[in-house]
Amino acid sequence: MDSIRIRGGKPLYGTIEISGAKNAALPLMVASLLTEGTVNLGNLPHVADISTLINLLCQHGVKAHLNGESNENGSSNGRTISLTAEEITSTEAPYEIVRKMRAGALVLGPLLARVGKAKVSLPGGCAIGTRPMNLHLEGLEAMGATIKIDAGYMIAEAPNGLKGAEIRFDSVSVGATEDLLMAACLAEGVTILDNAAREPEITDLVHLLQAMGADIDGEGTERLVITGKPRLHGANYSVMPDRIETGTYAIAAAIAGGRIELTNTRADLVSSVVEVLEHAGVSIETTDNGLIVSRDPASPIKGVDILTQPYPGYPTDMQAQIMALMTVSTGASMITETIFENRFMHVPELTRLGANINVHGRSAMVRGSDGLVGAPVMATDLRASVSLVLAGLAASGETVINRVYHLDRGYERLEEKLAACGADICRVQGS
Ligand code: EPZ
Repeated sequence: MDSIRIRGGKPLYGTIEISGAKNAALPLMVASLLTEGTVNLGNLPHVADISTLINLLCQHGVKAHLNGESNENGSSNGRTISLTAEEITSTEAPYEIVRKMRAGALVLGPLLARVGKAKVSLPGGCAIGTRPMNLHLEGLEAMGATIKIDAGYMIAEAPNGLKGAEIRFDSVSVGATEDLLMAACLAEGVTILDNAAREPEITDLVHLLQAMGADIDGEGTERLVITGKPRLHGANYSVMPDRIETGTYAIAAAIAGGRIELTNTRADLVSSVVEVLEHAGVSIETTDNGLIVSRDPASPIKGVDILTQPYPGYPTDMQAQIMALMTVSTGASMITETIFENRFMHVPELTRLGANINVHGRSAMVRGSDGLVGAPVMATDLRASVSLVLAGLAASGETVINRVYHLDRGYERLEEKLAACGADICRVQGS
């Protein structure tokens, strides 16, 4: 298994081009199941989860063509993919794929809406929480589907098609909003999704679905109104920039000190992160295609309290990274995780680097330490892994992060992007 080795203590100077958003690209790709036409997506990130989803879609009968593309000045602008689901040849999403990546379970609603049946593995829990599917299932049942759980699979049927329904989510779920939004586009009549998630990735999905001919009102709000259509058509669309990658590299500049320009992204996608960083003493300047993040390595990081919340609140996917930053602050920070029940797996690993963190239930009290010291550590999930990379950039000596396949699920060429800004970081090939 590969590992990443970092020798910390170097300020970072340079430019990092942000990739397309993994968490937007995955549902956009799934939306191709809704039409016989071809969906062409640009700015696709080169990350492992995308390949896993391509495998899943292909086994449903989708024809996929992936191309590397350069823009006019020769720099890479992500890959493009063409997805054509002319015929759905299998309605089963197997455990072997869905257990690796729970976004695979998003095929449930679209398959049911397109062909009236689906057999999708329950994804099971993961390192960050139990992650149930009840909101997806209750919503689809309200739209007329019958669903039973058998041998670890959700077996859903709607032989006469789905019907529009008024659905109010008990709690905010990104995945359930995406799943039901896609299903509603082919349902008969009007579906209202209340207390819907407002994450920018959902707005990206709304825009693709509209380009495919869907009738959706209320984008960016907690109430989406979808008037179903008998069919959708193909479309061309470009995946939005990755706001979590943007925030992660902003924290890299903050923790290591220096000045990094982040391009091919948008500052408005990371407003809550920018606000926290500014309170911590980091300078942020907005540019036409991104932002510039800088901190004089001699100036201190101040402790800031953080509460994760659904968008537009501070993202749970940026909680581990801000915790890494707070470990080198001059004060104290209370970090409260409200979205997932077990998302502090990075704490014991950060502690190995000398961080002073105490967890009390859903909150972690982080007291700034005199300085982190490099050590071997273990990645446990995607964002936990990257928080260890960030801490390694600030630690003296050598940090080795093991099990980096977690990082490869969601960060494209991470070590190259950081090395280009002066970080002493490399990948060590495993056996
Ligand atoms: C998406 O997961 C993201 N994944 C996650 O990113 C992200 O952390 C999460 O949204 C929250 O922002 C993708 O977009 C592929 P949820 P999702 O449904 O959709 C509970 C990363 O690091 N819930 O919004 O699975 C659930 O247990 C990943 O890139 C139910 O109770 O998250 C959780 O506590 C990790 N019942 C909360 O809602 C349900 O039916 C939010 O989950 C569904 C969810």
